[in-house]
Amino acid sequence: MLYQVVIPAAGQGKRMKAGMNKLLIELQHQPVIIHTLKVFEQDDDCRGIIMVVNEAERPLFVELLKKFGIKKVISIVSGGIERQHSVYNGLQAVKEGEIVLIHDGARPFIRLEKIHELVKEAQEHGAAIPAVPMKDTVKKVRNGMAEETVERSSLWAVQTPQAFRVSLVLEAHKRAQEEGYIGTDDASLVERMGKKVKIVEGDYRNIKLTTPDDLLFAEAILSLKEAR
Ligand code: CTP
Ligand code: MG
Repeated sequence: MLYQVVIPAAGQGKRMKAGMNKLLIELQHQPVIIHTLKVFEQDDDCRGIIMVVNEAERPLFVELLKKFGIKKVISIVSGGIERQHSVYNGLQAVKEGEIVLIHDGARPFIRLEKIHELVKEAQEHGAAIPAVPMKDTVKKVRNGMAEETVERSSLWAVQTPQAFRVSLVLEAHKRAQEEGYIGTDDASLVERMGKKVKIVEGDYRNIKLTTPDDLLFAEAILSLKEAR
């Protein structure tokens, strides 16, 4: 089943504190964004990649695509202030087709089997997202004091890629845009339309590189991959 993928890469990476877009940090001689792009480059089911970048960084990304032989990027569009604005812009460049994935440039360890499972479930349910059960106990905290312990068994941490029928996610983003609503992921925009979102069990290794510690985990995951 063929799909297109939108990859938002227009963030600033503030929490990584690297003084630059974290997607340009090199892991084993390759920028993070290239690790991510290569997964889709190597997937025969991927019809095309739409990248979302900061205008100022466009030449840099174009150069990287050339250097690392990435050929499936069919369009590069400008990012917005929030991730949601960036994704909205990316979705405008999606060609006609059934399924689109939205995947953070900062998640380089997504596996092909999981992508294919998500595409299949999105085809059936309209929307499908990967999530893993929370390992830690989660509390609501106010002014440094525990206020409430949230029931853990119903809590799942959500990842990307999030997979959707093209028409559904376009409509969800259009509505959110019109109503000035900002959600923390794309599926939440579909949920607020009253539509169901299928949860697919994710992989704890599909981490998002967010803070400097995540680079240590990333190196470990990469060295395991090499050993295989
Ligand atoms: N992103 C984007 N446009 C934005 C903000 C984020 O395209 N305005 C992208 C990032 O490049 C990243 C993904 O969305 O690939 C997930 O966002 P996040 O992990 O929050 O990255 P940053 O926003 O770059 O990091 P921070 O929040 O620490 O500044
Ligand atoms: Mg961010």
